[in-house]
Amino acid sequence: MSKKSDTKAIGIDLGTSITKLVGPGGKKIVKIPSLVGDPNPGWKGLGTDKSWLNNLMLQTDDGKKYFVGELARLQSEIKRPLADKGKMKSLKDAIIAIKAALSNFVEKDYGNFIVATGVPVASPQDEMVTLSKGLKGAMTINVANDATGEEKQINLKIDQCLVMPVCYGSYYEILKSSGEQRAVDAVVVDIGAGATNILTVYEGRLMRTASGSVQESITTLAERIASNLNQQTGKILRPFELIKSIEIGRKNVMIAGEQYDISETLTYYVNSIADIIVDELSTLLGTLPPDAWIEKVILTGGGAEVFGERMKNILTENNVVQSPEEVIVPEDPVLANAIGFQKIAQAQIDSKKKK
Ligand SMILES: Nc1ncnc2c1ncn2[C@@H]1O[C@H](COP(=O)(O)OP(=O)(O)OP(=O)(O)O)[C@@H](O)[C@H]1O
Ligand SMILES: [Mg+2]
Repeated sequence: MSKKSDTKAIGIDLGTSITKLVGPGGKKIVKIPSLVGDPNPGWKGLGTDKSWLNNLMLQTDDGKKYFVGELARLQSEIKRPLADKGKMKSLKDAIIAIKAALSNFVEKDYGNFIVATGVPVASPQDEMVTLSKGLKGAMTINVANDATGEEKQINLKIDQCLVMPVCYGSYYEILKSSGEQRAVDAVVVDIGAGATNILTVYEGRLMRTASGSVQESITTLAERIASNLNQQTGKILRPFELIKSIEIGRKNVMIAGEQYDISETLTYYVNSIADIIVDELSTLLGTLPPDAWIEKVILTGGGAEVFGERMKNILTENNVVQSPEEVIVPEDPVLANAIGFQKIAQAQIDSKKKK
């Protein structure tokens, strides 16, 4: 077998709340909280969850150890999010998290990869180049399972690292899964945990003036509801405590031992935040030439689950689409970018094989 046919295509979406990695054929999926933390030594082997993914510790070349993902979330005293307000915070931390997560894709001790990944739409070009350079090349990854103490050394080489605006993953995924051969004119609205990214594709080109981002997101929704409840009840509820309730659609929350019904407040802020996102979208689309015709609006990211229905209606009221059915939501909006990136990386491998 030639070396090339051993190369694996991996798609990576570094989100504010969740880092997602998708492997060949979309078969293997790794999702970890986007957190890196300091190690916190403790009792080993007592917990029931001994999986590598939830007990990931990485040692960098300079000998420093880091807890990554779920282990950092649960056990680190000091933890750092990889991104904030939809922007990458530290490239070094991002690379630590990606390396640790990649270790789950190597069965033997060696692996060759082509990686495609996304950065926020508003990221400057040099940030894309730095991320690409930081990931490319041969590396040795030293990981340990904090629950069992087991250690692994993995050697891998990233032959190529393609970096693009994050929403492009969902665009590619929708095109490929619908069997579309041409570059459809579309706008992708990715409502994430920390920001909403908007990317417009017109005549196959990424339109810079019609793309951008706003802070309105799941986090803003949680902040508004929390602040409203704090005023109503005089008790303190922190926004992040609400995110799980929003995610599972729970309408009753416990504040200092008492139950409160948040359904009205939730609907109110879902509507007002969706309005702000559509306003921004209309302004961005206003920069397109008058002959531009947007065929599809693709609504993606975890926020599509929360804001989807309202977004479909106001996009129709604002004449961005003619009917709510023209708004497309991928099958798995949280994973759609990573799935699309995986397919982009795969297409690179396939085109090299043909040559
Ligand atoms: N099924 C769901 N229903 C409602 N909310 C969900 C669902 N799944 C995920 N979420 C919420 O969506 C958010 C995660 O979405 P996503 O993975 O798109 O964000 P991200 O990529 O981490 O953030 P960003 O794109 O802003 O960097 C989380 O806040 C989560 O609570
Ligand atoms: Mg995202």
